[in-house]
Amino acid sequence: MLIKSSRLSDCHESDVTPEAIYLSRRRFMAGSLAGAALAGLPGLGLADPARYADVDAASAVPEWFSDKLSSVRWDAVTVKGEAITPFKDATHYNNFYEFGPDKGDPASNAGALKTEPWSVVIDGEVGKPGKYALEDFIKPYQLEERIYRLRCVEAWSMVIPWIGFPISELIKRVEPTGSAKYLRFETLVDHEHMPGVQSNFALIDWPYVEGLRMDEAMHPLAILVVGMYGRILANQNGAPLRLVVPWKYGFKGAKSIVRISFVAEQPKTTWQSLAPDEYGFYANVNPSVDHPRWTQAHERRLPSGLFSPNIRPTLMFNGYAEEVASLYAGMDLRKNY
Ligand code: MTE
Repeated sequence: MLIKSSRLSDCHESDVTPEAIYLSRRRFMAGSLAGAALAGLPGLGLADPARYADVDAASAVPEWFSDKLSSVRWDAVTVKGEAITPFKDATHYNNFYEFGPDKGDPASNAGALKTEPWSVVIDGEVGKPGKYALEDFIKPYQLEERIYRLRCVEAWSMVIPWIGFPISELIKRVEPTGSAKYLRFETLVDHEHMPGVQSNFALIDWPYVEGLRMDEAMHPLAILVVGMYGRILANQNGAPLRLVVPWKYGFKGAKSIVRISFVAEQPKTTWQSLAPDEYGFYANVNPSVDHPRWTQAHERRLPSGLFSPNIRPTLMFNGYAEEVASLYAGMDLRKNY
């Protein structure tokens, strides 16, 4: 990024999934449900590689995740008429600077990250602060599959099936006080396993920090994510817990979250601190507000190559304008970029 210098609810999974995968998925689900019934096992059981044909099964899946997977609400939200990005691209073309600056570095280096045990701190302006083991943190929530566009500020994009739950559910549970105006997300710093954090050349002042206004966080499309492609979240995609806000540039999606603070003031976020002229707090996808060094009018949908760059126009709020535009009514989006 800088280091070097539709309506959602009314469409079906067949709208976004290649037919062969869709049909084989249906067959697999029917087969596994029948098999599970015969064997007396719960639901779909462990990580479900057959749900997405090109997905590697996760080798070791914690019990809390496999328990939760059996009750996921599949395809709770999808996008219409767009193919899901191959798993390989979604897991090998990443930004996770703690693991290095190149797109392949997170896949090469994040395997060493230990995501168990993991805890999440909730603090600040809340009635119920606490430090939770991840399995307890996740336990109260119904997980859903949300198939969202992901638009990076660097002008590439993907379509990813996440598994998570609305942050609004967490917010209601922890009872914010009247002074809580923003959420601040802080992510892991692990000197031993994160080569980017060890590097003297990194410009980032760790930890990686992101933030949302309270009403943005309360929006039903904003989710906390623990899985993708029918399986547990890959380390390079932000395991075990990340933020996904589909109408904003991808850098808002803080990975490997360890702390969520409810605060009165707008938090200083990582990219804003590093280059305030280039990256703002809001970071809403907007084709008519260019990055100072490149246009945002178009994007490259992965997979993309020299002979098939797969360029498409960028959509206002990444295609979620109908749902979220009212959050910004009356705001000058050129100033609040
Ligand atoms: N979170 C942390 N902790 N560190 C990072 O470097 N990069 C962000 C975001 N979350 C980043 C992060 C950026 S710039 C993008 S575009 C998305 O993660 C990329 O998510 P993906 O690799 O799962 O596509």
